[in-house]
Amino acid sequence: MRVIKIFDTTLRDGEQSPGASMTADEKLQVARQLARLGVDIIEAGFAMSSEGDFEAIKRISSEVEGPIICSLARAKEEDIKKAWEALKDARRRRIHTFHSTSDIHLKYQFKLSREEALKRSVEMVRLARGLEDDVEFSPMDATRSDRLYLCDVIEAVIDAGVTTVNIPDTVGYTTPDEFGNLIKIIKEKVKNINRAVISVHCHNDLGLAVANSLSAIISGAGQVECTINGIGERAGNCSLEEIVMSLRTRKDFFKADTIIKTEEIIRSSKLVIKITGIPVQPNKAIVGANAFAHEAGIHQDGLLKEKTTYEIIHPESIGLQSARLVLGKHSGRHAFKERLKELGYELTQEEIDSAFERFKHLADQKKEIFDEDIEAIVSEEVYRIPETYSLIDLNVISGITQRPTSFLKLKVGDTIMERTDYGDGPIDATYKTIASIVGTKSKLLSYNVKGITGGTEAMGEVTVSLEEDGRTVRGYGADTDIIVASAKAYINGLNKLAYLKRGR
Ligand code: KIV
Ligand code: ZN
Repeated sequence: MRVIKIFDTTLRDGEQSPGASMTADEKLQVARQLARLGVDIIEAGFAMSSEGDFEAIKRISSEVEGPIICSLARAKEEDIKKAWEALKDARRRRIHTFHSTSDIHLKYQFKLSREEALKRSVEMVRLARGLEDDVEFSPMDATRSDRLYLCDVIEAVIDAGVTTVNIPDTVGYTTPDEFGNLIKIIKEKVKNINRAVISVHCHNDLGLAVANSLSAIISGAGQVECTINGIGERAGNCSLEEIVMSLRTRKDFFKADTIIKTEEIIRSSKLVIKITGIPVQPNKAIVGANAFAHEAGIHQDGLLKEKTTYEIIHPESIGLQSARLVLGKHSGRHAFKERLKELGYELTQEEIDSAFERFKHLADQKKEIFDEDIEAIVSEEVYRIPETYSLIDLNVISGITQRPTSFLKLKVGDTIMERTDYGDGPIDATYKTIASIVGTKSKLLSYNVKGITGGTEAMGEVTVSLEEDGRTVRGYGADTDIIVASAKAYINGLNKLAYLKRGR
């Protein structure tokens, strides 16, 4: 059985999804979960792209153990040095550098000849190898590059010392047979190919990213680049959960597997949804809400008799459990802490104390506390940011004959401010009141509300995305009252904007 390496790029290519930018704290949370999931390599960002990315890579390098930590770098001296600088505290690290090889890119974007591009790639790989033994090179837009030139570049960069050569389908243009053949051509024509691992990096513009990556594995690729929930530039990247579960479920066919702890898949998916605010469609393979919902009577009948009649993956194998009663009003701090541990959360004492306060408050409102409720409480900790604004009180009037009105008390710095405003509905009225107290110029780009567990007493989770001065942030709030959850989410987003404005 071949073991395929999983190179996760949720924090780099995934973050290139419109509206998915993450703060350093959020990236660290995702990186910790990726380590739990057991990915081989975490591409933590693109160090040269911003100070925020540099900081995030640096923190992940020093705080996350297990996977190799990697930074992307253009084939430029300053990029490579910056990547190394960000990575140097990691126990195991990788520099990933890239240069386009397609004539379309060389002619129109870089105005370079093929020879110049090859020379630059080799020089930059040498520079990277001088700093680090583990170096990956990507010939960008490989699938639209001249095959012989592509092979020349690959051979030259391997001679210069790369240990992984990654073949990107940058614009999601290739098809499974064509891509599988390309990997075969590379194996046949590149003389020194056995000195490097062949990796693939597929985009999903035609919905073929997973199929193309699987075809490449059949042809000999030993590493797949992918993202949680398939997020990424444009239509996204190869989805981690789909490629991993394809290999795990059809080991018999692919004769290959990964070392991923699949039981962590759902938690990883949920965390990325919460942090990026990008939901997955209900029918999304593996992690969609309907992926294990059997509707047809004939299927349900078969399942009740024998699960394997209609189920090819056990829901438990990806970490799905039916909502389970866990704790209640009388549960103490110790039980709460133990349950957090069982759910895989590592929180600081301060975070545990604050989460426990919220738990007690929730237990007063809701008889049964499920794992999902605890996860929502923890999410608020994940989203916690120094508070410029905090919600003190909220009262709302709404109904058929009443004009929706919101009375709100907000603490701004040391001052308590009170205001009343009206709106089209209770949430609109509340958001107008908050906006007029804060005097924000931000725009509300999206608002999503979701019930966590069934029933009218269930907690509601609200995620908003706000934009100001070209910056997009997400806010999160959870409460049994969805208007309070909505206010919390908006205030959380405004706190993030205030935090970023202070230059953090
Ligand atoms: O899609 C792409 O070509 C990339 C490279 C930088 C690997 O993301
Ligand atoms: Zn990409």
